Amino acid sequence: MDLKSLIRDIPDFPKPGILFRDITTLLSDPQGLRYCIDLFTQRIIEADLKAEYVVGMESRGFIFGSLLAYQLESGFIPVRKPGKLPAAVHSIEYALEYGTDCLEVHQDALQVGSRVLIVDDLIATGGTAAATAKLVQKIGCQLVGFGFIIELRDLNGRKNLPDVPIVSLVEY
Ligand code: PRP
Ligand code: HPA
Repeated sequence: MDLKSLIRDIPDFPKPGILFRDITTLLSDPQGLRYCIDLFTQRIIEADLKAEYVVGMESRGFIFGSLLAYQLESGFIPVRKPGKLPAAVHSIEYALEYGTDCLEVHQDALQVGSRVLIVDDLIATGGTAAATAKLVQKIGCQLVGFGFIIELRDLNGRKNLPDVPIVSLVEY
């Protein structure tokens, strides 16, 4: 099955000049979604990245991260935008093109030494994944790797990530 054919390209979203890779068309395709998650699971297991916890970033990382965690029989830990998580949090600020953003995780969700796989739908500049890696490493977790459905190679987001294996299914 051709995953790319299930990902829709939307020109000029969210800003003029950006070609947005839209995964909603992949999600809504029954056979496509199953194929995507089965392939993702297989690639993660082959790369020996099975971990105690899958950490997924709001909001599209929740979808693929939860499905993968279920397949791997791992737990799923949400990393959220500020002010959304109800209990005490660890936070990390990171730079955007203009200004800064922040991500949070519950303090009691992860422990020192927990094995963690970070999962998102897409890596562009790598800023979101790099910040999430810093957050889990600050807690003292063992980061085993990253998994993405889509990698935008031109932006070379990989160079901003720590030196652990990276699995991505589709490249542009
Ligand atoms: C998108 C995408 C990744 C991030 C990738 O999320 O889902 O999380 O951007 O970009 P980067 O590699 O340059 O950091 P977005 O912030 O649009 O949030 P959403 O999933 O809630 O739409
Ligand atoms: N598609 C979806 N999400 C994104 C993109 C994109 O092209 N770039 C950054 N986040």
